Amino acid sequence: MEPSTSTSSAPSSTQFLRKHILKLAPYTPIEPFEVLSSRYNRKPEDIIKLDANENPYGPPPEVREALATMPFPHIYPDPETRALRRALAEMHNIPMENLLVGCGADELIDLLMRCVLEPGDKIVDCPPTFTMYVFDADVNDARVVTVPRLDGFRIDVEAVKRAVVEHKPKVVFLTSPNNPDGSMISEADLVSILDLPVLVVLDEAYIEFSTEASRMHWVLQRHNLIVLRTFSKSAALAGLRVGYGAFPIGMMEYMWRAKQPYNVSVAAEVAACAALTNMNYLNTVRDALVSERERLFARLKEIPFLEPYPSHANFILAKVTNGRDAKAVKDALATQHGIMVRHYAKKELSGFIRVSVGRPEHTDKLIEALKQL
Ligand SMILES: Cc1ncc(COP(=O)(O)O)c(C=O)c1O
Repeated sequence: MEPSTSTSSAPSSTQFLRKHILKLAPYTPIEPFEVLSSRYNRKPEDIIKLDANENPYGPPPEVREALATMPFPHIYPDPETRALRRALAEMHNIPMENLLVGCGADELIDLLMRCVLEPGDKIVDCPPTFTMYVFDADVNDARVVTVPRLDGFRIDVEAVKRAVVEHKPKVVFLTSPNNPDGSMISEADLVSILDLPVLVVLDEAYIEFSTEASRMHWVLQRHNLIVLRTFSKSAALAGLRVGYGAFPIGMMEYMWRAKQPYNVSVAAEVAACAALTNMNYLNTVRDALVSERERLFARLKEIPFLEPYPSHANFILAKVTNGRDAKAVKDALATQHGIMVRHYAKKELSGFIRVSVGRPEHTDKLIEALKQL
């Protein structure tokens, strides 16, 4: 509602907004501990947050130490995030000239769209998948060509091919492991799509939790491939917002020109660099989450009204069956037990919940709660 003005005939401030912005759907955020704490009247430590695929172990101790002692918080950050890109280049054996760091992988999705899409240009989205591709397409006044996944969440490669011929999209978004089900794209499917005349974004936000290798180095051979990664999941830095991507070298100069110069804060870069100094910790935490994922999967299977899907990520999607309502299950877990899981309003996923992999005690409390529902 507009606040009242002295002249009731004054034009509404919305008249200044771009037309496509007026049509945006309201954003439904995942809430942080503080908000959940007051909503459910529980202390933050009495909330089990399994709704946003965050990493409950937190980053290695080196991160807190580096944040506490960072020398130049009063100086703008390095617009080229050189220290972090150098470390990433060494770790992935990819030239730092191909790497760009963003305020989360989310920022890079938006930046890419701003660089390649004219208003009205098209992207291909393969739902169910990460909803940020459609969100950013809408913000950038792009059109979305929807190619739903097949049973088992496999990409419908033939339909993607037809969509590319018919709609001439600029970008196809692929996610591997896919959010929300945790399935991987096969090499053959990826190659078929890369052979199309379209830019392919392969979002590998969860690749650390998979036994399959990242395809990041393919960027050096494929000039239509971008691979995105993040520090939010396996490095447990979701709150500090650091993501990165490998881009074809020819695009880099223009990405640099369009990027907000100070997009990655001093704290974010310092934290990400510090996290990389303790790979031992990161690998131990990843192994703990992967083995907990398998235990969670087995325990969810014991619940008569859930059918979990095998996952390569740090979450598990489960179909809610036996006449139970998925939203009611989610709400009951939140209000009665302080356990947050993800439910989706979208029709194709309205009968599912997605549960992030937590610590073993989180799994135990969740299963206990589910048995009581
Ligand atoms: C597939 C996928 N890509 C990217 C992101 C966002 O990553 P970041 O936190 O680096 O913005 C997420 C977050 O949930 C995700 O699920």
